[in-house]
Amino acid sequence: MKTLELLLVVAAALCVAAKPLNERTPRNKLLLISFDGFRWDYDQDVDTPNLDQVSVDGVKAKYITPPMLTMTSPSHFTTITGRWVEDHEVVHNMMYDAKTNLKLPHKVTLSKSKWWDNGVLPLWITAQNQGLKTASFYFPGGGANYSGQAVNRALVEPHGLPDDNETEWQENIDKVMSWFSEEDFDLVTLYYGEPDNVGHVKGPETADRKKIIEQIDRTIGYLRKTMGQHNLTDSLNVIITSDHGMTTIKKKPLVDEIVLQKYLNLLKLASFEILDYGGFGILTPRPGKEQEVYDALSRAPNLTVYKKDEIPEDFHLKKSKRLPPIVVVADLGFNLNSRFIVYVNKGDHGFHNREMDMKTIFRAFGPDFKKNFLSEPFDSVHIYALMCELLQIQPAPHNGSLAVTEKMLLRSGGSKVTASISAALLLLLFTII
Ligand SMILES: *[C@@H]1O[C@H](CO)[C@@H](O)[C@H](O)[C@H]1NC(C)=O
Ligand SMILES: *[C@@H]1O[C@H](CO)[C@@H](O)[C@H](O)[C@H]1NC(C)=O
Ligand SMILES: *[C@@H]1O[C@H](CO)[C@@H](O)[C@H](O)[C@H]1NC(C)=O
Ligand SMILES: *[C@@H]1O[C@H](CO)[C@@H](O)[C@H](O)[C@H]1NC(C)=O
Ligand SMILES: *[C@@H]1O[C@H](CO)[C@@H](O)[C@H](O)[C@H]1NC(C)=O
Ligand SMILES: [Zn+2]
Repeated sequence: MKTLELLLVVAAALCVAAKPLNERTPRNKLLLISFDGFRWDYDQDVDTPNLDQVSVDGVKAKYITPPMLTMTSPSHFTTITGRWVEDHEVVHNMMYDAKTNLKLPHKVTLSKSKWWDNGVLPLWITAQNQGLKTASFYFPGGGANYSGQAVNRALVEPHGLPDDNETEWQENIDKVMSWFSEEDFDLVTLYYGEPDNVGHVKGPETADRKKIIEQIDRTIGYLRKTMGQHNLTDSLNVIITSDHGMTTIKKKPLVDEIVLQKYLNLLKLASFEILDYGGFGILTPRPGKEQEVYDALSRAPNLTVYKKDEIPEDFHLKKSKRLPPIVVVADLGFNLNSRFIVYVNKGDHGFHNREMDMKTIFRAFGPDFKKNFLSEPFDSVHIYALMCELLQIQPAPHNGSLAVTEKMLLRSGGSKVTASISAALLLLLFTII
């Protein structure tokens, strides 16, 4: 009898343990932090004790691959929606309209719902619709409304704020921690504009870039200390990631820089273009000029030109209604210039996402994550499903898979094993009875 009771209890306990994460209580909170333009290997030539400690106490991916169109807004929006760029339609950092020739710079787009709200709901809204409280601190897309719904609390990055003010970085963490501990927010997304800014202005292979990585590392240390002070260490999961990498721009005399006007008369052949924006360019040929534009660009060296309907499937861009008929991707390190070389950036992105210089980081720690777990590389489109699992909410339709990341979670893998053990125990129990 004693043995039977014991077996029954054990079997029952195992059945409970076998429940998937999203049926467990209590739900832990989630902080998603993005450091813009953090190339996957930026911590390998700098002393980063705090990031190293995160890998010991949690999960590190060798690297992750951003979606094709390795730019800030498109890539962040893939992370927060789990959708490819062709689906969410945030197809540039600039808001544009090829028909009216409207072009708005990145900072202005941040509060333009028209640019972000294309029928795909980001995580904030999906979580709110399931009863959670969410906030965005400068995160791209957080300042827009989706089907008329706003994020519960959204701070939009103001103009002219320096990207690298460490005091302000810490204040932002203080605010976010009090949102969690005093106002019971479930999800906060926090964005920093570095190391992207330094990567552009100074270049990725510089002492300035190393210095900003040290500053980011101190900020991670500050985050962990502050989490402790707010009693959040056991109830807050943290994901640290980014949107793309950075590469050094090739200049004269090392290479002949690309000036597209040399190959085609832009005024005559194109009615719309964004060509002076790193490694990725778009253009609308004038009526009947599509083949001429395509042929001319095909002759230009150090780039690949695509007609929209011939874009490779794995770019996940082809279905986009917003992208104009012609897309140009420069070879790694070449900037696209339209008429003359205005470009002063020493580093840039927008290049093919298979290039190692475009890969970025993923780290995670907290009560639901395994410790000292090194993940194989994966696509950033999968982060969304992981976040839904952590928040115990039903995801909206998405293009990722939880299977890619669930091994990082404490409960993962174990559930099948415990389920079969409990089944065996129940069988044993019935045999005894
Ligand atoms: C979002 O909707 C609210 C309420 O309708 C409105 O006040 C606000 O201006 C909208 N924000 C944006 C960015 O469209
Ligand atoms: C940095 O941020 C702090 C706190 O917000 C502010 O007092 C200080 O003026 C800022 N420094 C610069 C150089 O902007
Ligand atoms: C954290 O918990 C301690 C001990 O329970 C308590 O004294 C302190 O006020 C808490 N701090 C916060 C910020 O909630
Ligand atoms: C750029 O194109 C030129 C002309 O085709 C070629 O000779 C050169 O090797 C290319 N440069 C790089 C770095 O691929
Ligand atoms: C991405 O997900 C959406 C929504 O489920 C779906 O309509 C679309 O076909 C998916 N894209 C791909 C390439 O599977
Ligand atoms: Zn950038």
